Amino acid sequence: MQQGKKRILTGDRPTGNLHLGHYVGSLANRVKLQKEYDSFIIIADVQALTTHWEKDENLSRNVYGITLDYLAAGIDPEQSTIFIQSMIPEIHELTMYYSMFTSVNVLRHNPTVKSEAAQHGFQDMTYGFLGYPVSQAADISIFKAHLVPVGDDQIPHIELARKIVRRFNDLYRPVLVEPEALVGDVPRLVGLDGKAKMSKSLNNAVFLSDSSEQVDQKIRNAVTDPARIRKTDPGHPEICTVFEYHRVFNAGEAAEIESDCRSGSIGCVACKKRLAHQLNSMLEPMRERRGKYQNNPKQVKEILMEGTRKAHSVARETMVEVRQAMNINYFDHEIHL
Ligand code: TRP
Repeated sequence: MQQGKKRILTGDRPTGNLHLGHYVGSLANRVKLQKEYDSFIIIADVQALTTHWEKDENLSRNVYGITLDYLAAGIDPEQSTIFIQSMIPEIHELTMYYSMFTSVNVLRHNPTVKSEAAQHGFQDMTYGFLGYPVSQAADISIFKAHLVPVGDDQIPHIELARKIVRRFNDLYRPVLVEPEALVGDVPRLVGLDGKAKMSKSLNNAVFLSDSSEQVDQKIRNAVTDPARIRKTDPGHPEICTVFEYHRVFNAGEAAEIESDCRSGSIGCVACKKRLAHQLNSMLEPMRERRGKYQNNPKQVKEILMEGTRKAHSVARETMVEVRQAMNINYFDHEIHL
């Protein structure tokens, strides 16, 4: 561990582009905290296979895609260790040990597992899918992470990780650290349709990789207050998705926009233009960083290789302690037959 710094671990499944919801739900926290904490970011490619096992041809593209999203968002590879889950076999080993004392019923009742199963239409859950929160507990605890910045859908998984760590420490020896969740300022950003949370699969997202034209167009088409037909009609910002985004991404102007909307002195077209402008000025530095890395694929690969190497060496050390604690170290001592 870096001297005196506590450790963060967090990450994502590489299943598609990251969007504004990811940004305010957890990415912004990661960028902010990477100086203060020893920060690890896992690209959970094995976890992605729990829902996308038939579409593995996209995996490599998605792993590099999410890495670009991270780097564009301001994750600094000098400060944060970005690594690939499947390349740390010790995580899978620890998952197996944890699975010995984790109850199937507890997994079945995990609300995030349940809602994802419904979303993917899984009638009969696979063993790997049902068990992914156990693997996630291993992702976190093998690095002895203190803090896990995530969206609020991940809270049941962090709770399980805490229980597993407590159980392990109690059953064997106290070698593991109990992690804590840190949820972002806006844990569930609403999507452009105003109906559900922002999500790639619902087609209601502004991606960090969108061009300024795409952002302009998406905001132009965003749902607003349906009661407002003419510009001079008084608006209801409290039910307007565009105003919600002003609150989150344009806090400095939100109060003025709110009163101008209520009085009917700003119309939806102008209000949306101001939002799109604000979003684009936030996204512009990300586009610049993305462009630089895109032009240098070798460097991106090296960042992942170096991060994975470093993460692997931490995981190896923890597993020596874990195996010792569990007495799975048959060749380390004298034997008497
Ligand atoms: N479950 C997380 C998601 O769906 C991804 C993830 C895997 C993760 N391992 C993790 C998040 C460890 C935090 C910590 O996005």
